[in-house]
Amino acid sequence: MDMRNSEDRIRSGTRDLGRFNTPVLVCGGAYSNLEALQALIATARQLAIPPARIIHTGDAIAYCADPCETAKLLQDAGVHAIQGNVEESLAASLPNCGCGFNEDSLCDQLAHEWFSYADARTGIELRRWMGALPLHLTFEMSGLRVRTVHGSVQEINRFMFASHPMSDFDAEFTHAAADVIVAGHSGIPFTRHVGNRVWHNPGSLGIPANDGTPRAWYSVLTPQEDGIRIDHHSLDYDHERAKAKMVDAGVCTEYAQALSNGLWPSLDILPEAEKIATGVPLDLSKSFFCANRTAVAE
Ligand SMILES: [Fe+2]
Repeated sequence: MDMRNSEDRIRSGTRDLGRFNTPVLVCGGAYSNLEALQALIATARQLAIPPARIIHTGDAIAYCADPCETAKLLQDAGVHAIQGNVEESLAASLPNCGCGFNEDSLCDQLAHEWFSYADARTGIELRRWMGALPLHLTFEMSGLRVRTVHGSVQEINRFMFASHPMSDFDAEFTHAAADVIVAGHSGIPFTRHVGNRVWHNPGSLGIPANDGTPRAWYSVLTPQEDGIRIDHHSLDYDHERAKAKMVDAGVCTEYAQALSNGLWPSLDILPEAEKIATGVPLDLSKSFFCANRTAVAE
């Protein structure tokens, strides 16, 4: 049995946040990109969303130059955070990031580089904080159950993309006890209706969405009388500063280029549909909606 993903472990690692009657901001993949996380927190302040209503879906640390500073900002800001596979690996002093990349792929080679860089800089206190983070967070909004996970419901490092077959999403919901699943890990924002339920990925803060733009992404879940409205938002930030820091530190320069040109250096993990969409600017301007039982009964 894979102890990283056992059902008992997930059950005991799930924390419930109660009920939210006001908007909740969801984001993920800060990826050691301090400038992007600072911009996100400033934007949340402008939206009057306090840290107690922000959830980060994991992988605070990865490709960029400021692993400790980024994780520390997440911690000090009081944002709700769950473990990504990177937090899990660093907390347990594992030898790699646990991303699930194919061996000898470019992703895997680069992961060795940035993981070693982060591993050498992450102190014991931050590792303890990461180890104590929940695996899942759940909450109620508009009479609907929301479950926040990193990869998939049962696997912290499973990549779920918009083009995956509906049966994959259906199977995930059979284990979720939720109407809405908010997930991270795969780095490209999307929302997919699965029957009357919704799978939502707010995208990542730290690396752009491979759409040829340097934008970071987050989302806001807004309670309505008849359900939850879900809005994707792009985020502009000082990506040139984040890139310069990576170049200065000599860490993952392939990903440093991605911060400005918006293109991933490797498409290894992408399904064909997402590969074809490389360099095509995302348009996520329309709102999505998950209806509650009141709305369904009408
Ligand atoms: Fe991840």
